[in-house]
Amino acid sequence: MILFPALLALATPQSTLSSPTPGLRELAKRRHLTLGTEVPLRNLQNDVDGGRFAATVAANFDMIELENEFKPPAVWKGPRDYDFAAGDFVVGAPGAKGWAQKRKLKVRGHVLIYAKDEGYTLPQWLKGPQGDVPKEQAAAMLHDYIRAVVGRYKGKIAMWDVVNEAIDDRPNNGNPFNLRNTYWFRKLGPEFLVLAFKWAHEADPKAELYYNEYSVENGSEKGRSMLALGKWLKAQGAPITGFGLQYHIDGRTTIAPGDAYYGYVEAIRKLGLAYQITELDVAIPVKPTPPGDAERGLVPSDSADLDRQAEVYASVFRMALASKNCHGVQTWGFTDRYSWIPDFSRGRNGAALLFDKEYRPKPAYAAVEATLRK
Ligand code: XIL
Repeated sequence: MILFPALLALATPQSTLSSPTPGLRELAKRRHLTLGTEVPLRNLQNDVDGGRFAATVAANFDMIELENEFKPPAVWKGPRDYDFAAGDFVVGAPGAKGWAQKRKLKVRGHVLIYAKDEGYTLPQWLKGPQGDVPKEQAAAMLHDYIRAVVGRYKGKIAMWDVVNEAIDDRPNNGNPFNLRNTYWFRKLGPEFLVLAFKWAHEADPKAELYYNEYSVENGSEKGRSMLALGKWLKAQGAPITGFGLQYHIDGRTTIAPGDAYYGYVEAIRKLGLAYQITELDVAIPVKPTPPGDAERGLVPSDSADLDRQAEVYASVFRMALASKNCHGVQTWGFTDRYSWIPDFSRGRNGAALLFDKEYRPKPAYAAVEATLRK
């Protein structure tokens, strides 16, 4: 008899053990809230963890966004040279269904222009001779790329991040809207944003188009630059739907009606723009471990932080549900097993998502579930 529960657990497919019913997907739908998650392409292609990854996506979310595989360096290999393998897998080649449609999931495209020069942002060949071209030619290349990518998946991508992270962290850099000194800014000036939105809209008039940014959420100086940029983009006739607010936050964050977070989304509404929370995760301090350690980024230093984290998650969802101009919430992954936070924080923080490494719902999951039920 004592063995029985253990045997039962062994005999039960792991996906049914780890996917709570009905999951968040149905609850979010009832609240008319689009609920998305970031996914790494290889986890879909390899159907990892005995199907638990895919099953948890399907039970909890109605939208996915690729983590890195739709970024410019992954797609844009040279002038008029594009790699559509990842896009075709997820949303299907023209006329075909992809992984997402087969599961009735919407897709968020991330990202057409990642407005930085370092890291996995700008296709590095643009820094070489092929990118060393006059303004008009650079603009023509950009136009061709946006038309090719957005056009190929026309009608299949619900929303695009058109431009990501174009504003400098350092204040007062002398550029309009404090834009970073990047390839596209140097070639085309702030106009590069207007053109990118116009060309994306031409290629898929129904897709929602976002400007996506981090460290703006409570109306910092960077946040003010972004509002000014949004106002200017609208005045220039750029077809922008709204702002993507990344929301990479931590367990000490407090968000409540009347505060700067609520004030910021209200300021966005006053500009006539929507917003979407695009990359939510709530990092907490974790037990220090070296890179490669099996427990890296997974064990909270103080287990009470899991409850604080749950409250932070709930507070973000409360704000999203309370605001008229919110077009959805998306988390940057869902299981701590595949979160970017441990590497990004050099092992200091982690455990930032709704499910633990074994796909067990954490207190944060329960808090989001309760918030959606209210
Ligand atoms: C991150 C990915 O999660 C990592 O795998 C990669 O090494 C770096 O980029 N803002 C964004 C995302 O818009 O594209 C970033 O994704 C996280 C911050």
